[in-house]
Amino acid sequence: MDQTLPWAWYADPEQLRRERELIFSPSWHYVGHAGLVAEPGSYAAAQAGHVPVVLVRDGEGTLRAYLNVCRHRGHPVAEGAGRRESLQCRYHGWTYGLDGALRAAPRSGSEPGFDLDGIALRPVSVDTWGPLVFLNPSLEPPPLREALGPLPEAVAPDGLEFRFRDDFELSANWKVVCENYLECYHCAIAHPGFSRLVDVSPDVYRLEADGLVFSQFGPERDTGALGSFHFLWPNLTLNVWPGEPNLSIGPVVPLDPARTGRYLDYFFAPGADEEWVRELLELDGQVGREDRALVEAVQLGVSSGLVEDGRLLPESEQLVARFQELVRQAVG
Ligand code: FES
Ligand SMILES: [Fe+2]
Repeated sequence: MDQTLPWAWYADPEQLRRERELIFSPSWHYVGHAGLVAEPGSYAAAQAGHVPVVLVRDGEGTLRAYLNVCRHRGHPVAEGAGRRESLQCRYHGWTYGLDGALRAAPRSGSEPGFDLDGIALRPVSVDTWGPLVFLNPSLEPPPLREALGPLPEAVAPDGLEFRFRDDFELSANWKVVCENYLECYHCAIAHPGFSRLVDVSPDVYRLEADGLVFSQFGPERDTGALGSFHFLWPNLTLNVWPGEPNLSIGPVVPLDPARTGRYLDYFFAPGADEEWVRELLELDGQVGREDRALVEAVQLGVSSGLVEDGRLLPESEQLVARFQELVRQAVG
């Protein structure tokens, strides 16, 4: 049996600081669907992990992204989404072009020695996979394609339509949330509804790790259609339920050591059967409520400070073990 990560890592602000710096800052982050910035001149504020960013479609139609941090004193330069020719900070009115360059700063003309030139929003790397937009705070990251590994063979987002975002918070460390996602050892006990739909028995339900992509495949009992649940290190989940084309995708974002932000963007094929969609969302919501209760209870357990660590089943929890190995390597 394998030991888990030290449980002290699930409640420690210094550990989270290291994880942000070493795991989150250099990673590609899914931030939303391309429809948010479809038209030239459109912008959308978003988050790449803990980093505030703004996506922009410039006048020539090129997708760009910047840190959503005014170079004056740090207020965001954009909130929400919309269309404009420039981004104006609400604090003192500094105005940036969609190319990121500072165009105007009120009263700066009468300040001796103040020069707009050379002041610009800090760019962020941006790339897309079908309708899905990804950002990386690094300036020269490895290509998104490389980071996605085998995902494009397993998931086909092209042609799907964005429907809605479900936003929520969990009172648990982000690693507890990821680890809960990475095994279905708990499904038979904790998700009776899901386990009635999908065969979760260990000889049928498959776990696979390919580089930084961890996948789970389970057939629908009635039809044999395969559901697949993918995780891209360090924190992205992608769900494809069995049945009509669909995708729900979203990150697990640490807010503080014991609090995690989560959202899922739901995509369906145009003209999807609404009754089927309704039933899927109902079961999905039920699984989500069941998982919330589990991870929030686990957080209390691992935070007692009186137990050092736990144990993992090498086979049934192989993806959890792999995830923990990557955490160890990154912050080691
Ligand atoms: S912080 Fe943006 S204008 Fe002052
Ligand atoms: Fe679960």
